[in-house]
Amino acid sequence: MNTLMRRAQQLRLWRTYCIKQSAVAGTEVASRGKPSYEEFIGSRHQQAQRSIVVQVSSERSYTELYNYCSRFGRIVIAQHYCVPHEDELHYMLLEYASAGEAAAAINSSAYNAELGSSGSGVPVRSPFLWFRAAASGRRGLAKLAANQHPLPLATIDGTRPPTHEQLQQLLRGAESIEQQILKLYEHTRLNDLGVRMRFLAALQVQQAISGMFPDALAQPFGSSVNGFGKMGCDLDLILRFDGETTITDGQEMSANEPSRLIYHTKENMSNGRSQTQRQMECIGDLLHLFLPGVCHVRRILQARVPIIKYHHEHLNLEVDLSMSNLTGFYMSELLYMFGELDPRVRPLTFSIRRWAQSCGLTNPSPGRWISNFSLTCLVMYFLQQLRQPILPAIGALVKAANASDVRITEDGINCTFARDTDRLGFRSRNTSNLSELLLQFFEFYSQFDFHNRAISLNEGRALTKPDHSAMYIANPLEQLLNVSKNVSLEECERLRIEVRNAAWMLESEVENSTLPESERQDQSWGLLNLFKHPEKSVIRPNMFFKPRMVEVSDLFDKSQAATTASPPVSYKSAT
Ligand code: GTP
Ligand code: MG
Repeated sequence: MNTLMRRAQQLRLWRTYCIKQSAVAGTEVASRGKPSYEEFIGSRHQQAQRSIVVQVSSERSYTELYNYCSRFGRIVIAQHYCVPHEDELHYMLLEYASAGEAAAAINSSAYNAELGSSGSGVPVRSPFLWFRAAASGRRGLAKLAANQHPLPLATIDGTRPPTHEQLQQLLRGAESIEQQILKLYEHTRLNDLGVRMRFLAALQVQQAISGMFPDALAQPFGSSVNGFGKMGCDLDLILRFDGETTITDGQEMSANEPSRLIYHTKENMSNGRSQTQRQMECIGDLLHLFLPGVCHVRRILQARVPIIKYHHEHLNLEVDLSMSNLTGFYMSELLYMFGELDPRVRPLTFSIRRWAQSCGLTNPSPGRWISNFSLTCLVMYFLQQLRQPILPAIGALVKAANASDVRITEDGINCTFARDTDRLGFRSRNTSNLSELLLQFFEFYSQFDFHNRAISLNEGRALTKPDHSAMYIANPLEQLLNVSKNVSLEECERLRIEVRNAAWMLESEVENSTLPESERQDQSWGLLNLFKHPEKSVIRPNMFFKPRMVEVSDLFDKSQAATTASPPVSYKSAT
């Protein structure tokens, strides 16, 4: 009975955030200036349902495609992007005014008869299409019949971040370190097209299984939606069989009264975990065998949270699909809220993530090094513990929660916290600018006692470390777990060295902040100095530590270091 009730509550809560959405396109929300996480997610799901992606031979096909596709409805957005291949592959993302119009375009599509007869083209319906050349003599007709003026085509490279050289040039042209931080953020953060593409990837998975699981929901989380994602970041996706399939404009939530008719369902024979693994294996096969664009499918089923990884070739996107553990989704909500609370949070985090990447502290593959997620937690904690805090402790959000904020995951993990931060009455009086905060971040962690102290974002202060992990960041949603359990002693020490170096470098940069423009253009300054020489990390003299020049690699006896670290684990198995 208890399980049934918990499950019913879980389902109700899961649906609540999906359904109570505005009917507004994009991220605009009518009620308030800024969309809540739920509104943002909901409007992006709706937008994906109004969209199609069409491969074309080149940008020049746009007018013809626009005219052809306008017969199915009113196109409100048209964006063009390329995917690197032997030659570049060109795609147009078209958004219609309604989901019905996009469905009409998809329903009108044909299967490629030539492929079908050879048995290699599986007839699967998805929003990913291609535009074939018109049969001779018909091209003109299509053009005349449509008689439309195409929308201006937005050409955005949603799949590729600026190159190192482009970024260097951009940062060199800034007027101050503060402006460099803002420019880095503006030019490397995930753009609108990037978000659209990620929700289309989610929709494709959801639609593929909707026949058997009409309530399925493929839900993006992580950096694709928390506002800390950069161009080209992976897509973290959680697939639930009991979510909500269609979030159509103006949909009303069905009555809450429990139905007396109950579906017969298949009884689970094995335990929950192996059941999930079997189901994931099956979903992995399905994606691999049938879904257009999905390739390089890998199953990582032994991790704490089993995942299926794949590449989407029409979106040039890496996807991590999981089917359990909603805490990642709610953690993304917390980060989203933090990012919305103060305009300095995201640009600062971007600079710190970029710095960590350039000095090799982070790495796209999981291992003994700090993950982007743990690093982000370090930034959030730094912003909480300031004399004039920029972020509140999570505990304050939990205290301010009301009945509508209750979220309990299937495994009983309590993810309840106030979703409306206005209720907290928190206003930061901190007036530091971004370059001051960046320097303060490096100074703070130069002195942080990782050896004895654990970081608690819930309390917004450091606690006594409960075990011997090299770095301890209590998981905000499962406080007995350590988010950075995977970090080895060697990597933690490397972080301390690099933050000292960065503090030293930035300190002297502040003195040079009045460089004339001509010199700024020629020299490497500000963030540019932080982002260079990744492989040449040395201890530098600074105001906290005795001067000493040592290569990082000299600091460790490699064989010893290996025994102090936990085995390589993905973050999903780390907590
Ligand atoms: P990038 O993919 O590096 O851009 O950042 P990301 O924030 O997406 O990180 P990642 O793909 O590793 O993880 C996706 C999301 O899962 C994060 O944003 C968190 O919400 C959550 N997550 C990651 N690591 C942990 C962890 O150790 N514990 C918990 N509870 N959640 C985690
Ligand atoms: Mg991610």
